[in-house]
Amino acid sequence: MIEDKRCSAPADDLLSDLIRTTAEDGDRLSREELRGMAFVLLVAGHETTVNLISSGVHALLTHPEQLAALRADMTLLDGAVEEMLRYEGPVENATFRYAAEPLELAGRRLAPGDSVMIGLTAADRDGTRYPEPDRFDIHRDPRGHIAFGHGIHYCLGAPLARLEAKVALASLLERCPDLAADGPPGPWLPGMLMRGVRSLPVRW
Ligand code: HEM
Repeated sequence: MIEDKRCSAPADDLLSDLIRTTAEDGDRLSREELRGMAFVLLVAGHETTVNLISSGVHALLTHPEQLAALRADMTLLDGAVEEMLRYEGPVENATFRYAAEPLELAGRRLAPGDSVMIGLTAADRDGTRYPEPDRFDIHRDPRGHIAFGHGIHYCLGAPLARLEAKVALASLLERCPDLAADGPPGPWLPGMLMRGVRSLPVRW
């Protein structure tokens, strides 16, 4: 697509804009940088938020008492989105981390260079942190979840993702007062990176 848009078919779209973009000093994004940017925008920025919204709607539709509570008091929306992030976070694992020095972690010895995979969605169902962790409860205090990661690589898009989810959910609930599941969801995504359903049939 980058080659197409660069050479023959530039269009009124984000990728074409990125190809055209020139910094003040004349610097442009290289092909590798453009690919990296497209990857970040599509996977980190888009897929994640899509899955947060659909998994969040799925959680509400399968917990009608929670949905009713939210409809009755939309000031609960901020907390509901945090609980959706905790309960069904879209990113299952962080990127690999590597031990910088010898250390012991959960009874295992790690040598410098050993890799560590951090299960974000597993951590967010930790029963020592959250009582009844498998219960979806928009009233709970979900602070401390790590759906957006932690530390220096904490998600750059977290405020945008939260805003997108709130706008989408508020609009959906307002426009579709009779929103209900219309059969079971499609299969959950395979693999160990993204958590989400392939499809979510609804009626209204
Ligand atoms: C619900 C939506 C989202 C979730 C659950 C999510 C999750 C995450 C997680 C877990 C990380 C850290 C990965 C690690 O530590 O290895 C991360 C990093 C990142 N996210 Fe998101 N993300 C979301 C939306 C977005 C959006 C909308 C954007 C941009 C438009 C974005 C851009 C990034 C970038 C650039 C990083 C890398 C930060 C760094 O390495 O310093 N994300 N995200």
